[in-house]
Amino acid sequence: MLRYKTFVPLVAAAGLAFGAPAGAEPTAEVLHWWTSGGEAKAVGELKNSFEAQGGTWIDSPIAGGGGDAAMTALRARVVAGNPPTAVQLKGPGIQEWAEQGALNDVEDVAEAENWNGVLPPVLAEIMKYDGKYVAAPVNIHRVDWMWANPEVLAKAGIGAMPTTWDEFNAAADKLMAAGITPLAHGGQPWQDATVFENVVLGVGGADFFRAALVDLDQEALNSPTMVAAFDQLRRMRGYVDPNFSGRDWNLATAMVMNGEAAFQIMGDWAKGEFLAAGKVPGEDFLCAPTPGNGFVLNSDSFTFFKVSGDDNIAGQKLLASLIMSPGFQETFNLAKGSIPARTDVALDKFDACAQRSHEDLLKATEANALVPSMAHEMAIPRSVRGEFLDLVTEFFNSDMSSEDAAQRLADAVKRAM
Ligand code: GAL
Repeated sequence: MLRYKTFVPLVAAAGLAFGAPAGAEPTAEVLHWWTSGGEAKAVGELKNSFEAQGGTWIDSPIAGGGGDAAMTALRARVVAGNPPTAVQLKGPGIQEWAEQGALNDVEDVAEAENWNGVLPPVLAEIMKYDGKYVAAPVNIHRVDWMWANPEVLAKAGIGAMPTTWDEFNAAADKLMAAGITPLAHGGQPWQDATVFENVVLGVGGADFFRAALVDLDQEALNSPTMVAAFDQLRRMRGYVDPNFSGRDWNLATAMVMNGEAAFQIMGDWAKGEFLAAGKVPGEDFLCAPTPGNGFVLNSDSFTFFKVSGDDNIAGQKLLASLIMSPGFQETFNLAKGSIPARTDVALDKFDACAQRSHEDLLKATEANALVPSMAHEMAIPRSVRGEFLDLVTEFFNSDMSSEDAAQRLADAVKRAM
């Protein structure tokens, strides 16, 4: 395995080794949406490492969890003929931009560093267009997580994290009776969709998730199972506080931290928030997968846009090499709450939540229960995802029946395809 010591000289040589002209000064304008406490800390690691290798980092943060605002800004930049050097972008979005001829490849770096040999094939495929790497993955986030404040659970007499939705509902009812908000939630479409997809996995299982949220199968979308998933979501609407609307996800995490609410259902970037606030997993906060069997995959990556100029090209190559170096994958993911995208980075410094994520990832892969996140743009085109977000949010904020929701979801998806 490559250890930290070998990574430094490798990266330092990246500019020269990968054909960047001598004298070029690696420069990268990086567009991302990592602005919360934990996120900013993690992206700060990337900036510092890039600068330590002599690079000039131009930071372009666009606030807004889930990245919807960042994606709008990106489109405007590309249309104006002025794309950033590297963009936090993922899933089918990478392919969509590549098809439009908007990307540069970093295949020379990938080949020299044997990315194919160290990435899970499912991730490697997402990063490539036409057989060449156009993006580099930083991590593997798990979406189907539940976070809790143990003191608050104890106050309501809840001894363990729920393992079924019935147990979750029973715990939430106890919390309600004790005058405690069961679920910290931010009412933004991507957060509603995050909870929704975890419920779909739990209620329907991985095959159903795939049929409905990835293959967009009409029968699955408008099925009794989908109705049951909406029923559970309706129940959870009753467990959030009155001020949930528009709340940022990290403020919902803070509610759990401060004991204002018991649970949050959110991907493991929430762990980055707990850690950035100095909280200790297993003591100050608990993690458990949301009820169900499987693993909802979300991987962040940086995609290289078509820029010219020796400095920018050198910047892309340096960034690509750095992102994929084992030492960086360790440092970054310790801060971000995720686990490394590389399969050969040791996890001994990672906490129990990360270890669990890794074990469950392997199990889910084996059991064909690894599914790509719909809410986090790993599964379907943005336009269709938009239909899911609109419908789920409307459901959450109205008294729409579960039957109507399933029917309307199927219709909206059909129209969008
Ligand atoms: C996700 C992203 C995570 C995290 C989250 C909240 O889509 O993959 O890295 O930042 O949004 O902003």
